[in-house]
Amino acid sequence: MLKIIAVFGTRPEAIKMCPLINELKSRGTFDVRVCVTGQHREMLYQVLRIFNIIPDYDLDIMKNGQDLFYITSSILSNIKQVLEKEKPDLVMIHGDTTTTVAAALASFYLQIPIAHIEAGLRTYNISEPFPEEANRQIVSILAQYNFAPTEQAKQNLLNEGKKYDNIFITGNTGIDALATTISKNYHSNELEWAKGNRLILVTTHRRENLGEPMRKIFRAIRQIVDEYKDVRILFPIHLNPEIRKIADEILGRNSQIHLVAPLEIMDFHNIMKRSYFILTDSGGIQEEAAALKKPVLVTRNITERLEGVVSGNLKLVGTDEKVIYNNMKKLLDNEKEYDEMCNGINPYGDGYASKKIADILETIYRK
Ligand code: UD1
Ligand code: UDP
Repeated sequence: MLKIIAVFGTRPEAIKMCPLINELKSRGTFDVRVCVTGQHREMLYQVLRIFNIIPDYDLDIMKNGQDLFYITSSILSNIKQVLEKEKPDLVMIHGDTTTTVAAALASFYLQIPIAHIEAGLRTYNISEPFPEEANRQIVSILAQYNFAPTEQAKQNLLNEGKKYDNIFITGNTGIDALATTISKNYHSNELEWAKGNRLILVTTHRRENLGEPMRKIFRAIRQIVDEYKDVRILFPIHLNPEIRKIADEILGRNSQIHLVAPLEIMDFHNIMKRSYFILTDSGGIQEEAAALKKPVLVTRNITERLEGVVSGNLKLVGTDEKVIYNNMKKLLDNEKEYDEMCNGINPYGDGYASKKIADILETIYRK
């Protein structure tokens, strides 16, 4: 039986790996172990609970103010004994976090093959997103099997000289989760609060947006709220205390704005589906929103999810206060612009990415 160890550590990795882990476990052809690094804690377990996954290992490294040196070195030194003990045939990692790159390095040092989920996304600007773009490129040098969500991602890998035979287009496993989370009869206090108004869902957490860029994003939101009395802002704040501090400072004490703790994935997806539009610098939300046909203003200068920009759901608005304000205003005032952004074709998969990956792995290891 093929022994796989899945290694991940943050909320988005968990959301995209859990459907795959459950699919692999259901097959009876894989011996699956789960090692979480604990780069995130509460936000990670919030997801694991929903998917009923209990990790076999938790490196439990998270601390306030953790920097890239700390995260990388603590994962690298702690994961060695797990991999040496388990001796897996394959290490499965996801995306672009520091957990991802540290687990890839450790696997490489121990000469264990790596399967990279969500491979091939690129901005080709190693400063944005930071450090994720570099993480992705480093992991692509080390990985044996690349599960690319889109044709573009595959093409990026081919252009970099990766072997055609080791790249598989599967769609994004994040889209798989939507099938289980979205419900027709969803109610919540937040939706009740926003009833009869236009709900804008906001998230922000990127390292390069901490500080002044984030202040500018929030000031634009504040201006919109002052001008549009039928707008409600729901902002589930990432647990990084730096973000809460700036949000309280600029967006606090306003009856049109709810600053709340990170939402459970069920709530977040269902509220997304019922929102008017989304303002975010998140990666995963860009994909989910495209699948749910919700317009997204992306508060970044560049994105590795260009397919959604091309299909029309996503618009890059950077972090300039005026540009963000103008684009929010346009979506609120201009029905044609709004409708166009709701009608893009979802480029991120059909919701069966996990099944495809499991099938491919079965085929590879049967040979
Ligand atoms: C990390 C990833 C980023 C990913 C994001 C998803 C890196 C370098 N960054 O960034 O790619 O988009 O996760 O959210 O890998 N915290 C808690 N509890 C939690 C989670 C976080 O308190 O459950 C706080 C801690 O104070 C922690 C801080 O948030 O120190 C920052 O977490 P960290 O993982 O370093 O950075 P993210 O911005 O979350
Ligand atoms: N998400 C969530 N609760 C929230 C905010 C986001 O469950 O309050 C989910 C969202 O649906 C998406 C993922 O978290 O699947 C995105 O995570 P994040 O933005 O932290 O990371 P990124 O995708 O940018 O790496």
